[in-house]
Amino acid sequence: MTIAIPGATGQLGRLVVDKLRAKVPASEIIALVRTPAKAADLGVAAREADYTKPETLDQALTRVDTLLLVSSSEVGPRAVQHRNVITAAKRTGVRRIVYTSLLRADTTSLTSLADEHRATEADLKASGIPFTILRNGWYTENYTRSVGGAVAGGAFIGSAGEGMISSAARADYAEAASA
Ligand SMILES: NC(=O)c1ccc[n+]([C@@H]2O[C@H](COP(=O)([O-])OP(=O)(O)OC[C@H]3O[C@@H](n4cnc5c(N)ncnc54)[C@H](OP(=O)(O)O)[C@@H]3O)[C@@H](O)[C@H]2O)c1
Repeated sequence: MTIAIPGATGQLGRLVVDKLRAKVPASEIIALVRTPAKAADLGVAAREADYTKPETLDQALTRVDTLLLVSSSEVGPRAVQHRNVITAAKRTGVRRIVYTSLLRADTTSLTSLADEHRATEADLKASGIPFTILRNGWYTENYTRSVGGAVAGGAFIGSAGEGMISSAARADYAEAASA
């Protein structure tokens, strides 16, 4: 069983690699990264893979069983980027894709961020490759960036009105992804 993780040099990806290393031998994990030098401390093999460079993807996905596709951080072009990966996965015979989507991506109209996730979910369904969609919620760390201002101003201000959200730390999403 070989598990490949694009975005492995990102904040979530690094945590996923760590969690996976506690569950499976490191030899079964492959980090797919834009800059292999940044992956030197991950403790697993690294292959170059850029969502915008399909020519890197076939080689990166060779003999990969499970692909944990971490959604790209480039909002706007990422549905196309993810499609490049899914198409390469189909070509190379990946047996399962796990994708980090967004909470209620299929039904929500509250955030434009959902549009690209919805497009990728549709591509996954059309691909014929068995898939698991992880509909991640908001990262708690998104709030921690604002703590300084909230402490200084004496209030934590948002625009959610009566809206409610249940956030979780990246480490929790990583634990779920690795499971
Ligand atoms: N739920 C939430 O609250 C929330 C918040 C922010 C983001 N997200 C989503 O969750 C993902 C992971 O979050 P994160 O905090 O780990 O983000 P992050 O630290 O910015 O990591 C994003 C990863 O995507 C990689 N990447 C970006 N463009 C790529 C490309 N063209 N080809 C290959 N890899 C590419 C980056 O590679 P490099 O290491 O080479 O830069 C990086 O490893 C984000 O990308 C975004 O889709 C969710």
